[in-house]
Amino acid sequence: MLIMTSQWLIGMVYLGAAFLLIFGLWRMSSPVTAAGGIHVAGWGMLAAVLVSFLYVFSVSEAARPQLPVNVSLALVALLLGGGMAWWSGRKAAMTAMPQMVAIYNGMGGGAAAAIAAMELFGSRVFDLSTLAGTLFGALIGAISLSGSLIAWAKLDGRLNKPLRMKGLQLINALLMLVTLSVGAWLMVVMQDAGGSLSHVLWLIGVFFGCALLFGVLMTLPIGGADMPVVISIYNAFTGLAVGLEGFVLQVPALMIAGMLVGAAGVLLTLLMAKAMNRTVVHVLFARFGDQPTRKGAVIEGELKPTAASDAGVAMRYANKVIIVPGYGLAVAQGQQKLYEFVKLLQAHGVLVRFAVHPVAGRMPGQMDVLLAEAGVPYDLIFQLEDINTDFPDTDVVLVIGANDVVNPAARSDKSSPIYGMPILDVDKAHHVYVVKRGEGKGYAGIQNQLFYGENCNMVYGDAQAVLVKMIEAVRGLA
Ligand code: TAP
Repeated sequence: MLIMTSQWLIGMVYLGAAFLLIFGLWRMSSPVTAAGGIHVAGWGMLAAVLVSFLYVFSVSEAARPQLPVNVSLALVALLLGGGMAWWSGRKAAMTAMPQMVAIYNGMGGGAAAAIAAMELFGSRVFDLSTLAGTLFGALIGAISLSGSLIAWAKLDGRLNKPLRMKGLQLINALLMLVTLSVGAWLMVVMQDAGGSLSHVLWLIGVFFGCALLFGVLMTLPIGGADMPVVISIYNAFTGLAVGLEGFVLQVPALMIAGMLVGAAGVLLTLLMAKAMNRTVVHVLFARFGDQPTRKGAVIEGELKPTAASDAGVAMRYANKVIIVPGYGLAVAQGQQKLYEFVKLLQAHGVLVRFAVHPVAGRMPGQMDVLLAEAGVPYDLIFQLEDINTDFPDTDVVLVIGANDVVNPAARSDKSSPIYGMPILDVDKAHHVYVVKRGEGKGYAGIQNQLFYGENCNMVYGDAQAVLVKMIEAVRGLA
């Protein structure tokens, strides 16, 4: 009776958790509801984890003696993992989010691979579909683990140079062939074999070793600019691996959560690749920034520096201002000062809006989160497709810490590595002020034609310090 009640309860809570995960994901589709969506999904996940402890009532007699040790281990793992995630999540800087996503994603893939390893190394009898699911989940989970760790090391500045060597793609192809062949061989020898698997344990080890090595070798040659797309691909891998292991363990919550993450990862990968003007195949097998001939046309003209106070005053007397935030704003943590400046302009009757490029910053949605953190109302924030035609009718554009996403070379210079990438048409505005510290390039490592335009002035300095001067200048007018 107790077993039936606990299983019924587990099933119902899993169903509720699945609903919360889907509902949470749906709310994450808009910046207005995203924070609430994360909480809803988090509660769903917490409920699913906690209710899993009811399984203690349905373990077999034979396994009962191990129960105290196993439950203690699970509790210690939960406390350790939860505590570390809580601590690192609170302390991570906004600019370090991509690394954090990479490492957590890798852990998810690793967890799925670990479940598969337990199933494979245990003396379990497999039918064909379960064995195929376990092996496939093990393969992509292991690739996601080692690949995400390399992505983390690259984004965290611990691995600076991409590994580029001739024939690496051939080696990778051969390695994948070996891995798949070992997997196929395991399918033959393990199917319905049950308790007599000691002679193939080393083969399972080889299978995991090859998959892990493949993840490393596949990620090492990919340049930093493509890393977020790569993380998104691994995110999809992790989701799929978790979903497959949910199928193996017959846990519906894992299946649903895994498939949701997998599907979201695939969609995000495609959207990011599109916004960066790259195909996914190109990201994985070509090498961004590795073509010395594609550095863009030589730019003529000169940079025209101006004082922060002059730029601030010009905006105070403008009718329409659009602000384009970029990675440098996150580095400077200037979002609070930026909104203070915007409120000052609004108080003087200036129409101020924000234009956000889909890949501004270093991860999807980074600018939206940054602005939301400062309390900027969502109705002031416009995405590229909703505001791009308004630039010709705008008096002043303030580009703050952005570079590649406003580079007109993407429209006109076929020799530029960013040619074809959609950009914010800032150069079409009446006047542009660009805030940056010096002559540093953007992520793509190329010059920006915009800065040399007749209608553009440079305001050099850290974004936050410049904003303080702009605020002082406008206040000084009153
Ligand atoms: P970037 O092109 O990277 O330019 C950022 C600019 O900010 C730099 O030119 C830098 O110039 C300036 N800067 C840095 N620190 C600053 C500070 N403290 N104060 C003021 N300025 C500062 O940024 P973006 O326009 O946001 O473009 C994003 C780029 O990253 C694109 O190429 C995109 O493809 C790539 N990317 C995006 C993503 C996602 S999903 N968002 C993922 C990976 C790559 P100085 O050094 O002169 O200050």
